[in-house]
This record gives sequence, C-alpha cells and structure tokens, in this order.
Amino acid sequence: MSIVLSAHQLVRHYPVSRGLLRPAALVRALNGVSFELHAGQTLAVVGESGCGKSTLARALTMIETPDAGTLQIAGQDVLGADRAQRRQLRRDVQMVFQSPYASLNPRQKIAAQLAEPLRNYTALSRTERDEQVQAMLARVGLRGEYAQRYPHMFSGGQRQRIAIARAMMLQPKVLVADEPTSALDVSIQAQVLNLFMDLQAEYATAYVFISHNLAVVRLLADEVLVMYLGRVVERAASAALFARPLHPYTQALLAATPSLQRDPQRPRATLGGDLPDPLAPPPGCAFHTRCPHASERCRVELPELRRLDAHEVACHHAEQING
Ligand SMILES: Nc1ncnc2c1ncn2[C@@H]1O[C@H](COP(=O)(O)OP(=O)(O)O)[C@@H](O)[C@H]1O
Ligand SMILES: [Mg+2]
Repeated sequence: MSIVLSAHQLVRHYPVSRGLLRPAALVRALNGVSFELHAGQTLAVVGESGCGKSTLARALTMIETPDAGTLQIAGQDVLGADRAQRRQLRRDVQMVFQSPYASLNPRQKIAAQLAEPLRNYTALSRTERDEQVQAMLARVGLRGEYAQRYPHMFSGGQRQRIAIARAMMLQPKVLVADEPTSALDVSIQAQVLNLFMDLQAEYATAYVFISHNLAVVRLLADEVLVMYLGRVVERAASAALFARPLHPYTQALLAATPSLQRDPQRPRATLGGDLPDPLAPPPGCAFHTRCPHASERCRVELPELRRLDAHEVACHHAEQING
C-alpha cells in the first residue's frame, strides 16, 4: 500500500496577546506530530477539545502552514512546493468541516458549487461537468434536481452530504474530516458515517477522521492517534487501541465512553479535572496533573513517544500500569 500522507514533527504555534501590559504568549497547538497514512486507510485523531485536532487538520489541508516539520502528500513535499505544485497538491487533499456552511457558499446553487473543482482543475466540457455533478449527487444519496437548489433549502444531514460530494468531486487521495457528524442528529450521523465508508470502499480515499466520539472512531478507524495538548500520546492500530489502551489518557477517554465498556464491573478510570491552560502547559508530561499514576519523574521529564507492544506510547510508566 502506498503512503499518501506523511507528517513528520509538525509544529504550529499561535502567538496570543494577553493585553497591553503582559508579553504575548504562545499556544503550542501542534507540538511535533508525526504519522503516516496509507491509501484507502482511515486514521482517526482523538482527544478533548483544545488538543490541537483542528490545527492539525488545517496544516494537513494546507489551509495553514506549519511553523516546522515536514509534510508530504503522495510523496511530494508540501512545504517546499512552488505555486504550481501546491495547486496540484490542493487537489489531492480535501476537507470536510463540522459545519457544512464552512465549505458551501450560501448564495450559489449546488450545481455550480459541485462543478467548481471540475472547472478549476479539469478540461471537461460543461455537459461533462453536469454529468459528473449528477453522478456524484446520486452517489451521496441526493436527487439530481437538488442541483438547482441553494444550501439553505436542505437539512443538516443533506448539507453535509453535499459538502462531502464537493470534497470528492476530484477524487482526492486524502480527505480530512473534522468532526463531520458532531453537529448532526444521532440518527443522521449513522447514515453519514455509512456514506463515508461506502465512498472509501469505492474510491480508496484515505481519511484523516477527527472525532471526539470514540464509538464513531471505533467504527471507522484503521489506526488511531490520541492527542493531548498538541502532542501524540498514543498511536496504535484501532483494534489494539480499543482492546488494550496503554496510555492513561487513552484509558480515561475510553472509560468515559459508556458504549465501549465491555466489562461494567471493571473500575472506571475517570478523567478528572479540566484540560490545563494551553498558555501554561504543565512541565514534564503534560498529562501528569490529571494522571492517577503520575510520579516525580512525570513532573519533570517529557516522555518520548516510544514503541511498546504494537503501540506507540508516550508514558514513563506504561509498563507498570499495563503489566
Ligand atoms: N488561530 C488561533 N489563534 C490562537 N490560538 C489558537 C488558534 N487556533 C487554535 N488555537 C488554540 O490552539 C489550541 C488547539 O486548538 P484546536 O486545534 O482548535 O483544538 P481542537 O480542534 O482539538 O479542539 C487551543 O488552545 C486553541 O485555543
Ligand atoms: Mg476542533
């Protein structure tokens, strides 16, 4: 299987003003994130709100440029690419947002919005474009006549189908979906998730699927990346991660998802406290302030991401905890 997306030590820091009298501070939204994604596979990115998931999505889709690190799309270096190369790369990576309004223009008919990528990137005639728009609408489960309507005339689920259709028009190698079903009713969520799975089976698109819903992730993911304050704390094949999470943070996230409890008798590790202030993250292991296993070492020494069993885990005490 070919690698379609490869990120190495991506960094993105946001300077934040704290008022006139205090120096600006830095939010380390992405603090050295690495992974590889193969064609046709789904990498899920999980973590609480504020962990840097959307920042990662914006870096991967070239909406924002990382401050450091390397990013390759289909083997092509993104950060060193010239304009023409970047234009081609933009075609290969598409994004679906939580709110379809972020990707749809309220003042333009659906037909024009779905045809736009074809106008920009192909030499298809108008008739051929119309045919492809119709085919894609059918593919995402919408009627052909909807092409003549405006976004506000649809339900939330339908609008998300249209946003997905738009992202798929050029059959990208990678689709980055940032909480794409979080704003939808539960009954509609399942249908949209099925659509994602059907499209992947058909086009072998690789997905980066961002979600805080671990039940959803379990359904979709081949691999899971768990983030905490801008860093990866655990990365593993989905089956391995759900069967035996190794990092205390992953364990707490799983325990907080009732539908994933296999053994209700097992004591639940709960996630106490809030995410620390991202402007002043705890030293050492950033999770130590909430970790039931934290030791003195955790308060001072940053744990590197390292191999343990079939996982990668950033925890000094992973062996003892899971022994
Ligand atoms: N444009 C920005 N300017 C300043 N801080 C930002 C900006 N975007 C995100 N952040 C901060 O970066 C951190 C990660 O945010 P985000 O990537 O949106 O996390 P998530 O998607 O996991 O909720 C948060 O602390 C957030 O406040
Ligand atoms: Mg987000």
